[in-house]
Amino acid sequence: MGAPGSGKGTQAEKLMDEYDCRQISTGVLLRQAIESGSDLGNKVQKIMSEGLLVSDEIVLDLIKNELSGIGESSFLLDGYPRNINQAQSLRDFLENIDKPLDFSILIDVPSEILIKRLSGRRTCSLTGKTLNVYFSSQSDLDECLSSGGELVQREDDNEESIIKRIEVYEQQTEPMIDFYRSAGLLLTIDGQGSVDDVYLRLKKLMEL
Ligand code: AP5
Repeated sequence: MGAPGSGKGTQAEKLMDEYDCRQISTGVLLRQAIESGSDLGNKVQKIMSEGLLVSDEIVLDLIKNELSGIGESSFLLDGYPRNINQAQSLRDFLENIDKPLDFSILIDVPSEILIKRLSGRRTCSLTGKTLNVYFSSQSDLDECLSSGGELVQREDDNEESIIKRIEVYEQQTEPMIDFYRSAGLLLTIDGQGSVDDVYLRLKKLMEL
């Protein structure tokens, strides 16, 4: 967990490249529903573009669906849970399927950095790789463009929605930090510095 722009998706992508583990991101699943034009997508589009959370029931259904039949595989949840109610539902569900969480990782980044990261975020239309016009190397950006890809900006990465998402995080998600701290599951890493620096810190902490 972490504020919007803290690097959850970026670090999850790196972990998935290195480890045999599945990333389950409620944000990605919801954006896929919107792109497919499904009933669910139509229902959540406006809420997401305004930077608000969709209902707890909708995201719990998505998670249950993704985890059903996961067997012995490892998984990493990105952007779920997002409030105490979701954290309690997740705990109950994972207890039922006998796969309790190993730990919950908080990526800690001061809010002044978040806005620049979010306004500069782009996704390569060919590879789906997360990039940033301010922080990615020119060669990474060129690689996408020279292969015929486009650098696409997310609909909710506009100033108004970014400010709302950070506000929602502070009001609804931050209280969840204590939930995991008191369960003895909380690991916190400093999310400042380069993507690779943060990744090294993350791996070191997980190995410990
Ligand atoms: P979601 O997709 O989860 O978005 P978010 O929480 O707002 O988080 P972001 O994806 O914006 O940030 P991130 O931390 O993944 O950062 P990233 O790695 O991309 O959710 C979107 C919406 O879906 C929500 O607003 C809500 O409506 C709905 N939703 C989703 N889950 C829900 C739930 N559980 N309940 C209810 N509603 C839900 O990095 C950002 C940028 O910074 C990138 O460009 C990256 O390249 C760059 N960057 C990353 N790390 C670094 C670094 N160390 N240095 C420099 N740049 C960096």
